[in-house]
Amino acid sequence: MALWGGRFESGPDALFKQFNDSLRFDYRLARQDIAGSVGWAKAIRRAGVISAEELASLEAALAGLAAEVEADPTLPARSDAEDIHSWVESRLIEKVGPLGKKLHTGRSRNDQVATDLRLWTRDEIDARLAELRDARRSLIDLAAREAGTVVSGYTHLQRAQPVLFAHWALAYAEMFERDAARLRDARARVNVCPLGSGALAGTAYQVDRQTLARDLGFAEPTRNSLDAVSDRDFVIETLAACALIAAHLSRLGEDLVLYSSQEFGFVEMDDAVASGSSLMPQKKNPDAAELIRGKAGRVNGALVALLTTVKGLPLAYNKDLQEDKEPLFDAMDNTSMSLRIVPRMLDTIKVRREACRRAAAGGYSNATDLADYLVSKGVPFRQAHEEVGAAVRHAISRGKAIEELPLEELRRFAPAAGPDVFAYVAIESGMARREVFGATGSTHVAKAIEAARARL
Ligand code: ARG
Repeated sequence: MALWGGRFESGPDALFKQFNDSLRFDYRLARQDIAGSVGWAKAIRRAGVISAEELASLEAALAGLAAEVEADPTLPARSDAEDIHSWVESRLIEKVGPLGKKLHTGRSRNDQVATDLRLWTRDEIDARLAELRDARRSLIDLAAREAGTVVSGYTHLQRAQPVLFAHWALAYAEMFERDAARLRDARARVNVCPLGSGALAGTAYQVDRQTLARDLGFAEPTRNSLDAVSDRDFVIETLAACALIAAHLSRLGEDLVLYSSQEFGFVEMDDAVASGSSLMPQKKNPDAAELIRGKAGRVNGALVALLTTVKGLPLAYNKDLQEDKEPLFDAMDNTSMSLRIVPRMLDTIKVRREACRRAAAGGYSNATDLADYLVSKGVPFRQAHEEVGAAVRHAISRGKAIEELPLEELRRFAPAAGPDVFAYVAIESGMARREVFGATGSTHVAKAIEAARARL
């Protein structure tokens, strides 16, 4: 049964109905639609539209409906109602008869859908926050396990300077911590209540919107009815936060794909999160890492899709806004999956400490330390840089590391070098000098691990 048949002489074209109906995706809002309906029933009771007895019957029927949906979440999707709001209302009428027809007094699907979607988004944000926390916990555990592992750090994907593997892991923990802050920030703007805004002009009934908002767990009611029914900023902000999470996951995925390749060989994924090739028997592919990299595309797509949808929409509600749900649901589902796979990957990852160290020791990663050494002997940095560059060029031509050059050979390029140079450019001493706040020195990183854990 459609909610709006009165004005129409004939029913909808079958293809149009298929095009227009949103139930096949918005059935996921059933719980929120029912909660919003309970809130509205109470509000119109307080406004004197229905009696206390009528409220009690509506509440009982809605509770029954909530239990049905809880037991079988796809139940609404199997009806041919237009959308979840129509489904809840028609089921209510089936349960309580004509009284069910009073519930929609002073309410519109426009304020209703905005309310439902805010309730849904709020819960999902809370779930993403918990998942981000688990991902951070897993990165911090990895950092603690690998607190003594030195690995090459890269810029331009060229070996740059040695860093602790723990420092690498904590870099991603930082990103996820910022992501959580962004989601919490978005949540504050999600958490306002549009109900009572009616179709666009505000409801004509004396509804106490402050109490209604509080009943539904919102911080406050929206302030402008035109804005309230047409605003999807809260979806876009949430998607923007998800897009950045997906970008961070994608970078983590890319690092892991590289590091698990035979060319790097820094890590090995557990069999449980890898897959093989149907043709090449030797293959073990880092699919989990690749997929969290790949998901970034569709999450970004969701953000761009909705930004494009709202651009140029006249006030207030337009049916275009029905297009908000699928991108939001898809982005949330996939951000969730990607976040949840992170602990599965990292808790079982094997770090090949020797290979990490070999990479840190190779590639002239201690060239900066040699320049710093020369500076300590009074050579101006720019000159030291020049001398070390020439020494590296020479070492490359001999197929040797800097520390493998005899002192006399090194002094041809860097005359200030003395016998203490070799201790100075050793990996451990280079790392030990990097103890400023935020750096990769092991004392600072140990503190950073504890601090990150405390912030969990
Ligand atoms: N299914 C619609 C949506 O998702 C609900 C609101 C419809 N309102 C209307 N006046 N047709 O946006």
